[in-house]
Amino acid sequence: TALKTISIAIDGPSGAGKSTLAKSVSKTLGYLYVDTGAIYRTIGYAAFSKGVDPKDGEAAAALLPELEIGLHYGEDGLQHMTLNGADVTDQIRLPEISLYASAVSAHPAVRAHLLEMQRKLARENNVVMDGRDIGTVVLPDATVKIFLTASVEERAMRRFRELEQRGTPESYEKVLEEMRQRDYNDSHRAAAPLKQAEDAVLLDTTELDFRQSEEAILRIIRERTSR
Ligand code: DC
Repeated sequence: TALKTISIAIDGPSGAGKSTLAKSVSKTLGYLYVDTGAIYRTIGYAAFSKGVDPKDGEAAAALLPELEIGLHYGEDGLQHMTLNGADVTDQIRLPEISLYASAVSAHPAVRAHLLEMQRKLARENNVVMDGRDIGTVVLPDATVKIFLTASVEERAMRRFRELEQRGTPESYEKVLEEMRQRDYNDSHRAAAPLKQAEDAVLLDTTELDFRQSEEAILRIIRERTSR
């Protein structure tokens, strides 16, 4: 029988710190970090560049056969996304792509299209995978499941500071409004909505700084594996 790989599923709403924490924890453990939001962002970016309405499920589904989505690890060890051969790693982070990604991710055809790609990564590698439905749909048998959250105000504040540091500031009110909008979209869609898996450990980082959050995650993992 095949050797079983270890998978750590980290789900939660936007801005809870999933990607920074998952990246750092994967480094500590020597596992592959898989950012599944980047895959949805790549499809959102494709819709954006082709002028496709991301809310139109049929139009989004019709787009899929034309898209060749690649997930690669660069020499920098970072996850890069390609779309029909072009590296779109930076483009998919543009703020307007977030709502496109959220909208296309609501369509069952889009989610089904990406399922096997995500499962294959977890079959072939020890992974820390972050997203919205990793513990509930993608890897229901994940070794450890963590549901990472923080208050919407705190998550908006973190995103606000991040945008400011990046030199692309936006008002806190606008960031908060967009955060609420995405929370709503991601948790109210019919297909694989954002929700805590029954066997996931809840970690609220509203009152924790980065180091404390990381410690908490590593502790949860150690308690459930021998690592
Ligand atoms: O994690 P992120 O903010 O980069 O993700 C972008 C969007 O993709 C998010 O609004 C919801 C969607 N998404 C999803 O539906 N399922 C996932 N596993 C990851 C992201």
